[in-house]
Amino acid sequence: MNAPLPLDIAEAAALLRAGRLVAFPTETVYGLGANAKNADAVLSIYETKGRPRFNPLIVHCADLAMAESLAEFSPLARQLAEAFWPGPLSLVLKLRPGHGLADVATAGLDTVALRVPDHPLALALLRETGLPLAAPSANPSGRLSPTSAEQVQRGFAGKVPVLDGGACKSGVESTIIAIDEENLIQLRAGALAREEIERVTGLKVQKAATGAAISAPGMMLSHYAPNAHMRLDAVPEAGDAWLAFGPSAPFAGISRNLSASGDLREAARNLFAMLHELDGTGAKSIAVAPIPETGLGEAINDRLRRAAAPRE
Ligand code: TXA
Ligand code: MG
Repeated sequence: MNAPLPLDIAEAAALLRAGRLVAFPTETVYGLGANAKNADAVLSIYETKGRPRFNPLIVHCADLAMAESLAEFSPLARQLAEAFWPGPLSLVLKLRPGHGLADVATAGLDTVALRVPDHPLALALLRETGLPLAAPSANPSGRLSPTSAEQVQRGFAGKVPVLDGGACKSGVESTIIAIDEENLIQLRAGALAREEIERVTGLKVQKAATGAAISAPGMMLSHYAPNAHMRLDAVPEAGDAWLAFGPSAPFAGISRNLSASGDLREAARNLFAMLHELDGTGAKSIAVAPIPETGLGEAINDRLRRAAAPRE
């Protein structure tokens, strides 16, 4: 059996600063943490979990001040943060200009889910690094969320360093609330009861159907949809914008290459920015080269398929 690596805060912080992953305890479940401003570090989360799609990740902050450097806080958002942070409430808020977060952490959205965890080791780590940490639950994709360092260690066969904080208090993930002006929308039920939020704010919390798109502009639940029509596994035609991958023949129109050398990690790093760029040119259609369905390619293809799917 793999014993959890004995890691202290200084060692864990050094690893995170160097772009490595560290699993850490929170009051809900253990998180698999990476510097949320480092795209390669965040991509390692996907590789390590074997996650087949780019979900936007929850970004953990040391305090409200760090959170306010990343997102816009309305008076209502601040009221919720002051009432429930540190604690199991994640707030989905509009990104602030200059936030510096990697777009693979937010899955290319213009919003971010933020929370301040209520655990002394998590807070010490966040303070020591001074970095926002993207952290989904520290389990291989499709497995149960871990509530002890031993479970994390077993799940990843000892390959991920773990900060051991004993058993998690709650074992249920944080409640996720999107704020749209004076509307509170619960995107995920979790460790903080809806009634608590209603009591503090005097507002009704609406429930979003899982996976449903939120109707308010700019608040799609989890996917960025380009305006251009997308053709996948395609060869570019006149009038297309061309999103290439690997060595590619010269193209007369506007084009970007996700990775000229055919490197999937580089492609994942470029994906959201290049999609936004090509879509931003006003092109009617974007032709996308075939991407291999291996490693990060699976998540890249999932994202492209969803971007190409017909709109409701
Ligand atoms: O308790 C927790 O929240 C744990 C611990 C480790 O803190 N973390 C956690 O993170 O569950 P994660 O990254 O697995 O949660 C991601 C979920 C997404 O699947 C999505 O539902 C929601 O958070 N989310 C994140 N960013 C969002 C955004 N910008 N808009 C809508 N939903 C978002
Ligand atoms: Mg999870």
